Amino acid sequence: MATRFQVPRGTYDLLPEDAAVRRRIVAEARALAEGAGFGQIATPIFEDSELFVHTVGEATDIVSKEMYTFEDRSGRSLTLRPEGTAPVCRAYIEHGMHKLPQPVKLWYEGPMFRYEAPQAGRYRQHSQVGVEAIGSDDPTLDAELIDLLGHLYARLGLRGVRLHLTSIGSPESRAEYARELCEVLLRSDAFDAEQRRRIEQNPMRAFDWDGPEVRAVTDAAPKMIDRLSNSDMEHFEEVRRLLDGAGIDYVIDPRLVRGLDYYTRTVFEFRSDALGAQSGIGGGGRYDRLIEQIGGDPTPGAGWATGLERVAQAMDASGVTAAEVAAPANGHETRFLFAVTEPAARQRMFRAVSELREEGLGATMELGERSLKSQMRNAARMGVPWVVIVGPDEWSRAAAIVRNMAAHRQEEVSLSVLRRELVRRARVG
Ligand code: HAM
Repeated sequence: MATRFQVPRGTYDLLPEDAAVRRRIVAEARALAEGAGFGQIATPIFEDSELFVHTVGEATDIVSKEMYTFEDRSGRSLTLRPEGTAPVCRAYIEHGMHKLPQPVKLWYEGPMFRYEAPQAGRYRQHSQVGVEAIGSDDPTLDAELIDLLGHLYARLGLRGVRLHLTSIGSPESRAEYARELCEVLLRSDAFDAEQRRRIEQNPMRAFDWDGPEVRAVTDAAPKMIDRLSNSDMEHFEEVRRLLDGAGIDYVIDPRLVRGLDYYTRTVFEFRSDALGAQSGIGGGGRYDRLIEQIGGDPTPGAGWATGLERVAQAMDASGVTAAEVAAPANGHETRFLFAVTEPAARQRMFRAVSELREEGLGATMELGERSLKSQMRNAARMGVPWVVIVGPDEWSRAAAIVRNMAAHRQEEVSLSVLRRELVRRARVG
């Protein structure tokens, strides 16, 4: 049989076998996200074009040459969304979500559209699952997001995954650094005319370019991570301490460039050894200016997205079997909310949350700057069965209070047996 028609270049049909893998990825992501207190959001497939121009950035590849932009019948310029962060931030403002307890945590899935040169792992319509947490600049949030995505890949059986991490500071220090970098790069004759033009627009992109000569110049060039302000540096060091304390491996990669302009401070990318040139399976970071850029009050945020096609490919390359694909996902309710009011306890408790995730149990830490009382109210609102409280007194005794919300009962548990005790309670119910 023959048809004159084919799918448009860079798109594909999802057939049943692949749909099963896709379902599994989304189910695990949902379980992890909802276990950490994220609720689902779905925004439209198309948005006002200006939303992406203002946030993703005019000089980025995505906006300058990859957008599917069209005029509707009334002459409005609309764009098939190339990514999910800007739409979620728009929705946060539009629905007055700043009035909810912060941070507001949202997850989403769906197709994204970029007019890219099609190749293995690079499509014009691809699918993402992503999370956004808006309303907190706490470095614990950055670390928690990274931990979640790492657990997602582990649960899906991915092997050979590496986490690349860096901080790009604030737009002000970056602007200053960009001037310095531009000058340094343009002094070299390693770049052709087109590259020199692009360096003038955004010199950081040169870190993405290959070729031994170019590479030597960019290797020797100054890096943003060495130009961070003290507060940005302190923020990044806390993210690292939390990751280190939880045993999460990463490489500091000062060359890491994300193709979107809205990032500030922490940025990260997970790469798979098993994939070819398109090795980035998921990435994200902090975007503390984005909400303000689109008309909201200054509100920090952070998130990530992972590409379903690339994750499926990486599962295949890791030898994940059909039986493993068919295994049920973990539960998706939040079982434990950690209310940590003693700052010194943060790292230890962050590790405890990560350990529960490893056990397949939903857990998260309170990050709003609220009193213990309002944290408990929030726990009740969320319907969380257990709250783990660590204030200065408990911390001084190396213990935590574990409160059963339904029974209004609580006990003190030594931190040395906390993991075991929490798992036992969750299993007993
Ligand atoms: P991104 O890195 O542009 O980030 O895309 C996220 C993931 O989507 C990539 O790691 C990759 O797996 C997949 N992806 C991107 N483009 C393609 C393509 N053409 N074909 C196949 N897969 C692709 C974002 O989109 C940000 N919104 C992530 C984020 C959320 N940052 C903060 N919050």
